[in-house]
Amino acid sequence: MDVAIVGGTGAEGFGLALRLARAGHHVTIGSRVAEKAAASVQEAKTSLGLDASVDGDVNAGSVVGKPVVFVTVPFAGQAMVYDTIKDALAAGTVVCDCTSPLMTAVGGRASHALRPWHGSAAEFAKSLLPKGTRLVAAFHTIASDVLRDLNQDVDSDALVMGDDADAKAVVGSLIADIPGMRWVDCGGLQMARIAEGLTPLLISINGRYKVRESGFRLTGRDVWGDPRG
Ligand SMILES: NC(=O)c1ccc[n+]([C@@H]2O[C@H](COP(=O)([O-])OP(=O)(O)OC[C@H]3O[C@@H](n4cnc5c(N)ncnc54)[C@H](OP(=O)(O)O)[C@@H]3O)[C@@H](O)[C@H]2O)c1
Repeated sequence: MDVAIVGGTGAEGFGLALRLARAGHHVTIGSRVAEKAAASVQEAKTSLGLDASVDGDVNAGSVVGKPVVFVTVPFAGQAMVYDTIKDALAAGTVVCDCTSPLMTAVGGRASHALRPWHGSAAEFAKSLLPKGTRLVAAFHTIASDVLRDLNQDVDSDALVMGDDADAKAVVGSLIADIPGMRWVDCGGLQMARIAEGLTPLLISINGRYKVRESGFRLTGRDVWGDPRG
């Protein structure tokens, strides 16, 4: 599949780019700065091999013609980034928002959650995009260090939220292509209010244990099958 990762130069987005490209998908890394995107493409090719299917562009250019777009930027930049890409998104694009609203956006701590007016960063994103955008939220509990360590499978399940079941399944199939990962359909987009709050919880756990890889597994998920029946 052809995917763009807006903010793909960062910790989470670059890890996701590596994992999806290694799974055989074509990945376009988006950045506010073309040169920064190009540097991340070089870094990805150094890691994956020169024939890796990765290219880069500025954020708005990266999403053109893409059926799936991940947005991996800090909450402080979320509104600006959606404003930049919204006119370039084709109708029917599946947009997966990965934003966790943290107090770092206002100078606070990463282990403290921030509560957006709309209920969650994902619902805020929906309010910024054209009506009918197929918005999904995921990856709030997947640590960037784990995504970037290609020597290990990812020992975490991804919690996936959204109001469009087929869009969730598209994102879910990409998640399932990452070794070790399973996806869990957590229900409508409003459930992102809870999932986004789990990021500061994991940051706090990581701080206590001096690790960087904590995450979640859903017991029983292996036998539940496809949530669409
Ligand atoms: N890191 C994790 O382990 C992790 C885990 C779960 C959830 N998350 C969530 O995933 C999102 C990305 O996290 P991250 O750690 O990857 O963040 P990051 O590395 O700080 O930033 C990601 C990218 O976003 C762009 N960016 C940074 N500040 C921006 C701003 N003010 N306006 C517009 N673009 C900006 C930058 O790309 P350019 O400069 O190239 O444009 C940057 O490389 C966050 O919402 C975070 O809460 C992260």
